[in-house]
This record gives sequence, C-alpha cells and structure tokens, in this order.
Amino acid sequence: MRKRRLGSSDLEVTEIALGSWLTYSGGVEREHTEACTRAAFDAGINFFDTANVYGNGASETAWGEILSDYPRSDYVLATKVYFPTDGGSGLSAEQIHKQIDGSLQRLQTDHVDLYQCHRFDVETPIEETMQALADVVKAGKARWVGFSEWTPEQIEAGLEAAADGVTFVSSQPQYSMLWRAPEEEVFPLCDSHGISQIVWSPLAEGVLSGKYEPGKPPPEDSRAASEEMNSFIGRKMKDETLEAVQRLRPIADEAGISMVQLALAWVLRRDELAAAIIGASRPEQIHENIAAAGVEMTSDLCDAIDDALGGVPVRGTTLAPGARGGVLHRHGD
Ligand SMILES: NC(=O)c1ccc[n+]([C@@H]2O[C@H](COP(=O)([O-])OP(=O)(O)OC[C@H]3O[C@@H](n4cnc5c(N)ncnc54)[C@H](OP(=O)(O)O)[C@@H]3O)[C@@H](O)[C@H]2O)c1
Repeated sequence: MRKRRLGSSDLEVTEIALGSWLTYSGGVEREHTEACTRAAFDAGINFFDTANVYGNGASETAWGEILSDYPRSDYVLATKVYFPTDGGSGLSAEQIHKQIDGSLQRLQTDHVDLYQCHRFDVETPIEETMQALADVVKAGKARWVGFSEWTPEQIEAGLEAAADGVTFVSSQPQYSMLWRAPEEEVFPLCDSHGISQIVWSPLAEGVLSGKYEPGKPPPEDSRAASEEMNSFIGRKMKDETLEAVQRLRPIADEAGISMVQLALAWVLRRDELAAAIIGASRPEQIHENIAAAGVEMTSDLCDAIDDALGGVPVRGTTLAPGARGGVLHRHGD
C-alpha cells in the first residue's frame, strides 16, 4: 500500500491506518479484534492508532497482546493522552509521565512512534504540557508528538511553547465528506508548519458505506444497531443525511468503486493528509477499504459528490446546494 511521510517526522505511514476506538475497546469480540488487526497487517497496513481512554486501557491491552507477535520495527504505533481514565485525566506533566508509562506497559513496548494530546487541556499551562512531551521524547518513550482536535489558536500556542526542539508532526481531526470543518483553517495552518493530518471517522462511522437506508432499521450487525457502540453515530443518522448518502451510490458505481472506497479516496485526495484512520469490525471491511488507497479522485468526481450532498446539514455544517469545490456554510458549530 502507498505510504506518505508523517509531517516533518521520519515516519512513513500507509495511507490507510487502523484505529481501535469503539471497536477494539470492547465493541467487538476479542476474536474480531484479533482477526481485524492481523488482517490489517497482512494487507500491508503499518499504522495503528489507539488511546489510553479507549475502554479505559482495554484497547491498548488487546493490541499489546496481538502486536507483540510482530517485529516492533514493522509498524508505526500511535496512542493518546487527555481523557479521563482510572489513572486521571488532562495534560499536566504528572499525568503525561504517568499515562505514557501505563500506555507502554499495556502496549508491551518501550516506545510509541506518535504520542498525541487527545484534546487541549485548558487547566494546564501549555508550557508545562510541551515540556512534558519533550521529556517523554528525550526519554525515548515516544518518537514524535501530535494533537487531536485543537483549534488554530491552541495549535499556535503549542507551537510557540515547543520545548527542546520537540514540536508537533500530526493533527488528528474528524474529516469526511460529511464533516469538512478542518479544511478551512486547521489544514492550511498545519501545512505551513510541517504537520500532517491523520483523520478520524473518514466513513462517518460507516454512514458513508451506504448501508444505512432512510426509514429502515440499521443492519443488525452494524455500529448503529449496537447498544455498546451507537452513542455517536446517532447524530449522523438523520433521514436527510442518509438520503443524500444514497445519492452517492450511482457516482461510485460509475467510477467502478464501492461507496466506502469513494469516501476514503475523497479524503485522501488532499495532500495535507498522511492517512485516513479507519475502523473495522471484520476483516472483509479492511480488504474492501484498503483498495481506496491509490484511487484517483478527478475534479469531475468531486463535483458530482458535492452536487449529490448539496444542502445536507451535518452537525451544524451545510454544503450549499449545488456548491462545488467544498464551499461550506457554517452555522455556529
Ligand atoms: N481523535 C479522536 O478524537 C478520535 C475520535 C474518534 C475516532 N478516532 C480514531 O479514528 C478511528 C476510526 O474511527 P471510526 O471507527 O469512527 O472510523 P470509520 O472508518 O468512519 O467507521 C468505522 C466503522 O464503519 C463500518 N465500516 C467500515 N468499513 C466498512 C465497509 N467496508 N462496509 C460497511 N461498513 C464499514 C464499521 O462499523 P460496523 O461494521 O460496526 O457497522 C466500522 O467499525 C478510531 O478507531 C480511532 O482510532 C479518533
């Protein structure tokens, strides 16, 4: 699979990364977690994204067990810190030092390749956070650092407070055909500082696969039907959205690819991305999804997608009817 350089780091990551959020923290059975992780490896995925908060460490523990079967140099491992766990929360120096040790223990490794601030901590001076991240890097526990869902102001503050030459190489925002907010400011700001995007929920949690049809109950084996996993996807399941997504089907058919491949190729069309982080509940999804890497998105395809989605509001963001080229109208999200 094609690889891209992660920001100004020396890491080469596959365009499709595997994430472990709702799935491998308990949403799917342990045997599915293992089957998907191994399928990802076998398919050539080298980039794995987790967090200390996923299942309060359960996701890291599962991957620690599975990934320890593979040479450590064969994969790029990313985890995150901030959200509450049994061990505490936030980005204070104390938390960062404590949480990285917990993550490494669960992941059965002496270092992660990327350590990400899962959100910005308004309670901790940014200088303290940046120094703690630098100390973690100097101790060899993380090779590079990044952040997730920081505002442009927070990103700038972090860059300004960078300590001992340790600065960010990645940004992890939500980004999909249905959620384009970071295009406006986060993408260009990061680009000008050598920071790549590694985007989450590129399939809008599976909505962009087209398997959820308006007015019909979700398929039984889907995230939307799962009590354990459906707390977020509900917002994306409005009939209006599902109808618009169905209008993408003929576009994918005509391009000779699946809707999932269309959605992933659409995010990967942006050079600012190093990777799209997918979730998968079974190996077949991984096989289908990785085929998106290498699909060329023409401007005609992008225009057809914008026309199909015209007028759809998703979490406060509306693509203007007939708007082309990703013109967004925001309603104070
Ligand atoms: N930084 C953050 O704050 C943050 C937040 C959220 C996520 N993330 C990261 O991003 C990763 C991906 O998020 P996500 O799981 O929401 O990504 P996603 O790729 O948008 O959605 C994944 C889900 O879509 C469904 N799916 C995948 N491939 C499919 C296919 N070929 N056909 C039909 N359905 C398919 C599966 O659900 P079902 O089969 O169960 O329906 C799968 O679990 C997470 O694991 C995590 O690492 C980060």
